[in-house]
Amino acid sequence: MSRLTYGKYLKLKELLACQVLESAKAGRPAHDELLFIVTHQTYELWFKQVLHELGAARQIMGAEFVNERDVGRALHALERVIKIQGVLVDQIDVLETMTPLDFLDFRNLLTPSSGFQSAQFRQLENTLGLKRTQRLRYHEADYETSLDAADRRAVGAAAQAPSLFDVVEAWLARMPFVQFREFDFWREYRANVTRMLDEDRATITAQLPDAARGAQLEELDRTRATFESVFDPGKYEALRAAGERRLSYPAFLAALMIMLYRDEPLFRLPFGLLNSLIEIDEQLGNFRYRHLQMVRRMIGSRVGTGGSSGEQYLQGAVNKNYIYKELAGIITFQTERSRLPELPAQPRKALRFSA
Ligand code: HEM
Repeated sequence: MSRLTYGKYLKLKELLACQVLESAKAGRPAHDELLFIVTHQTYELWFKQVLHELGAARQIMGAEFVNERDVGRALHALERVIKIQGVLVDQIDVLETMTPLDFLDFRNLLTPSSGFQSAQFRQLENTLGLKRTQRLRYHEADYETSLDAADRRAVGAAAQAPSLFDVVEAWLARMPFVQFREFDFWREYRANVTRMLDEDRATITAQLPDAARGAQLEELDRTRATFESVFDPGKYEALRAAGERRLSYPAFLAALMIMLYRDEPLFRLPFGLLNSLIEIDEQLGNFRYRHLQMVRRMIGSRVGTGGSSGEQYLQGAVNKNYIYKELAGIITFQTERSRLPELPAQPRKALRFSA
């Protein structure tokens, strides 16, 4: 049996034969097409790794019983995803060394293919939990219409399985600390935040010039209305039915509590997990935004090779396609540490949500 070598292990012969230039096939090789292909292939390899990590985190958090050590393992996978996403964003700098004119040397040969057809990118969005109803549509059609049959099946399977959002939501909703008998956390917290909002109102009224005051007070009223829904399951469910909230009420309350008491040793891991989901969403947004900037520099406002309104579609996706916005939005309901009700011994005990 021949000894394993570096090249055999990594299948370099096959891998390095995968860069086939359309411009060369057309008889006029374009220097920058190799960079274009290598960059895209590198993205797809990293997408594969990201899917591997997200799949592991989803499996861990989807178990019937998740102990703290398991949360740590899921967190580790998500932190790795964040590091990879950093590379994915930075890598755009390399592709941007290609000038628009260099790109024009081979761009038309690529029609109608497009990054829009990246099945792994859709799997990644679906595994994280981007719902069909949350997505910006492409020419009034679902993204599947631009995939071939095999890709459609793979992406469809990922869309059917419970997403990371679903399993984390169920895990949050199971946490036993939302109501304590001896400690009415929510009553105290509500009083404190209401006081904080009253103080904000007084500051706006006393310090802002007339022109700015009205808009600020309106914004404050909106914040107060949203805040009231936190204490009223009926109002919360009405917002949820209207599509303004996605997390179930118990899951939302648990997430709020974790965010508020992130300093408690028992909440550090759950907080780390929620925070990493927010960061993954932000990094996905960063990728979308950097990609959009690159597209602007490369093709201006021309139609993309995939046929969308290019820039306009991508700008829409930057604005809309977030998954964990609600978790990030919990910051609105945070009070200073000094206003947080102290956790007495009994609820501290109840916070032991694992064996
Ligand atoms: C010169 C470089 C690039 C240009 C001009 C470009 C252009 C575009 C355009 C115009 C779209 C919108 C769909 C369409 O009409 O085709 C798009 C979508 C997309 N591109 Fe690129 N792209 C470039 C590089 C990349 C790279 C390196 C990746 C890495 C995988 C990528 C991934 C994607 C993805 C995933 C979408 C779908 C985004 C979504 O639906 O939210 N693109 N691209």
